[in-house]
Amino acid sequence: MDVLVISQEQEVVIEMMPLNISVVGAGYWGKKVIREILNISQTTGRVRLYSVIDNSPTILEQCRKEFGPLNYRLNYHDLLSDKAASVAHICSPNNTHFEVASKFLRSRKHVLVEKPLALRGREADELVRLADTTHRVLSVGHVHRFNNGVKELKRVIDSGVLGDIYYLRFRWTGLLPPQKDRDVITDLGPHPFDICNNLLDIWPTKISCRGRGYRGEAGDEVAFITAEHLDGVNASIELSWLDMEKHRDVTVVGSDAVARLDCLDQKLVIQKPDKTEEVSTAPSNTLQEEIIHFAECVERDSDSKAYTNRSDGTLGASVVRLLETAKQSLREERTVRVSLPGIEELLAGEPTQTGFRKLTN
Ligand SMILES: NC(=O)c1ccc[n+]([C@@H]2O[C@H](COP(=O)([O-])OP(=O)(O)OC[C@H]3O[C@@H](n4cnc5c(N)ncnc54)[C@H](O)[C@@H]3O)[C@@H](O)[C@H]2O)c1
Repeated sequence: MDVLVISQEQEVVIEMMPLNISVVGAGYWGKKVIREILNISQTTGRVRLYSVIDNSPTILEQCRKEFGPLNYRLNYHDLLSDKAASVAHICSPNNTHFEVASKFLRSRKHVLVEKPLALRGREADELVRLADTTHRVLSVGHVHRFNNGVKELKRVIDSGVLGDIYYLRFRWTGLLPPQKDRDVITDLGPHPFDICNNLLDIWPTKISCRGRGYRGEAGDEVAFITAEHLDGVNASIELSWLDMEKHRDVTVVGSDAVARLDCLDQKLVIQKPDKTEEVSTAPSNTLQEEIIHFAECVERDSDSKAYTNRSDGTLGASVVRLLETAKQSLREERTVRVSLPGIEELLAGEPTQTGFRKLTN
């Protein structure tokens, strides 16, 4: 395909070809992303791995050994002016997300940023604004949006089988060595907050958080967060890098039944007073579905067709605000009101019936 000719018509032709995805950051998660893109490319032909960028020569050498000859680069700067490089999947460390994503968006590339979208709320908002003004797709790697177990749990909640929803509990734990320049809220917090919003369709109004680091100079390694929602539906979130057991669990406690989901194997169990039953779910390849969904959003965006981005930048920005609120609560040792567009009006208005709990209780 000749990508040097830049008439408007040919730009459209470029967008209709397999999407050229460049992966920025090829560490632990970036390698998984590369494997999936190669796999999707082989099985569907819808995407193509255009370039792999990592500023560590050692990492690129590892990639060369594992993936063979690909377009490897130590920096992404030439890609910004490369018309054929239409899409970037950003898997570099959290503190680089804003800088890298804003450069790609300003260069009119579609961008999928791993969670969290950015470190600060105002940076995340700026990425959303940039995507709007450049008319480019901005997605965030909230991979559990594509988890069949979570989808099934949402269906169970909406069906009313659990009765009134009292509270939710999230356990996101696993042993990690002491981490420099990282904190457990930023790293593990995005998924529980995102899943909670996915299940309830509302954001919390207040957050309180306690936590600390234990090992030497490490930052916060454990956090206990309470997120309060309207109608008294609370979510309790435990985040830990100290617990030797790895858990990615969601429990939803209702008046009639309790649902327990293991987000890793996507197994869902409903416990009632008289019996416990497993709900059958076919586990999804969440990362593969996330990438395919992103590709579909880009294709439709390029065709000016209506589409819903199930993991868009606005969602990512809201989660970043919750992470910030949790950190503020931890720092100031108090409960902090969540500030998100729309929340103030909700709080100022009449009590809202969310449907999860009867207001008469
Ligand atoms: N969705 C998920 O479930 C999930 C799981 C794990 C990690 N992640 C996210 O993926 C991202 C990467 O995490 P990781 O565990 O792979 O970290 P990692 O440290 O293993 O990998 C990061 C890589 O980025 C490279 N890098 C750093 N700065 C760069 C730059 N400016 N340009 C190009 N490359 C650069 C580093 O050399 C390193 O190889 C993080 O944002 C993390 O939150 C998401």
